[in-house]
Amino acid sequence: MFKRKDFLVFGSPLIENDEIEEVVKSMKCGWIGTGPKVQRFEEMFKEYKGVKYAMALNSCTAALHLSLNVIGIQPGDEVIVPTMTFASTANAVIHSGGKPVLVDCQKATMNIDPQQIEAKITPKTRAIIVVHFAGRPCEMDDIMEIARKHGLKVIEDCAHTIEAQYKGKDTGLFGDIGCFSFYVTKNIITGEGGMAITNNEAYADKIKVLALHGMSKDAWRRFSDEGYKHYQVVYAGFKYNMMDIQAAMGIHQLPRVESYWKRRKEIWNIYNEAFKDLPVFLPAPVPDYIKHSYHLYTLLPDIHRLGITRDRFLDEMTKRNIGVGVHYIALHLHPYYQQTYGYKEGDFPNAEWISQRTVSLPLSPKLTDRDVNDVIEAVKDTITGKVI
Ligand SMILES: Cc1ncc(COP(=O)(O)O)c(C=O)c1O
Repeated sequence: MFKRKDFLVFGSPLIENDEIEEVVKSMKCGWIGTGPKVQRFEEMFKEYKGVKYAMALNSCTAALHLSLNVIGIQPGDEVIVPTMTFASTANAVIHSGGKPVLVDCQKATMNIDPQQIEAKITPKTRAIIVVHFAGRPCEMDDIMEIARKHGLKVIEDCAHTIEAQYKGKDTGLFGDIGCFSFYVTKNIITGEGGMAITNNEAYADKIKVLALHGMSKDAWRRFSDEGYKHYQVVYAGFKYNMMDIQAAMGIHQLPRVESYWKRRKEIWNIYNEAFKDLPVFLPAPVPDYIKHSYHLYTLLPDIHRLGITRDRFLDEMTKRNIGVGVHYIALHLHPYYQQTYGYKEGDFPNAEWISQRTVSLPLSPKLTDRDVNDVIEAVKDTITGKVI
């Protein structure tokens, strides 16, 4: 059996000296919380995305929650959410008082199926959250058309797509607000962290205020050398602000976003080539009109041909010292959503097909060629040992 010498951690980010030194500088100067580095990171992100407003937060989950709040989701409102996503996409709806209404995904792209959205729209529907899954933008022409037709707001969950574009336009700029994540496994990282972007001034102002206890705009400056300024509490806000220690990482990671992307794409293509003749399903081919973020490389073992379950596949990879992930078991298969909203197995067949098979392989600019080879060896060894 092939076994790598040490354990290859799934999703381990590339952290370079610049950000290590910047974090140390923040700690030495004592401005650790929200401060000038957060402001700089916001300016950089705004420029990178070509958007009017960017609000740095402590997570994408916070960005989703605040987005739903500022578009005015009220108790009883319904929000369309793909079932193939991470829990926080739907939980943000619940915490804003709304009800997540789940929709199946396309089997190949794993993205929300635009053709299944309209059937779920009721007089209570207020918004659609799209998730650009694994780094692949959703079919935004179709989705924006549906939203316009029904007068719905659109929030983009861009946790997987910092760099992605659809027909030449960046993800995060199609809907009303785009929400990004800089969690440790993401394409650029700040440890924990997120960003909300929008061209709507009213949304931007309110997100900024809600993120820091509902204290009036720029309350973080009250301790700066401009002298103490009183704040007023204008909303019952949240504690969702990003810290300078986090932004210290972001301001050095962001300029490398394209070089990291190129390496991710290279590894993606090496995997595609290595696995093309195996009894596995590969990520859907990327059409010309899409720039994929290559966030997650999802391999779907053909469990019937192989005669093993996905979980056994995960165990076999782990035994070979390769860290793997599962993105995701669809939301409607989890007890909370079943018990609260009555979802059940059988409701969304495409998402279930994926949930039973999907395995995420390591994909990070930190991977050496040797690491990539080890992943390939481990996959082949797991599969050849198991083909019937
Ligand atoms: C699709 C999706 N949405 C939202 C999130 C939440 O991001 P964060 O951890 O920054 O809150 C994640 C995190 O993995 C995600 O994958």
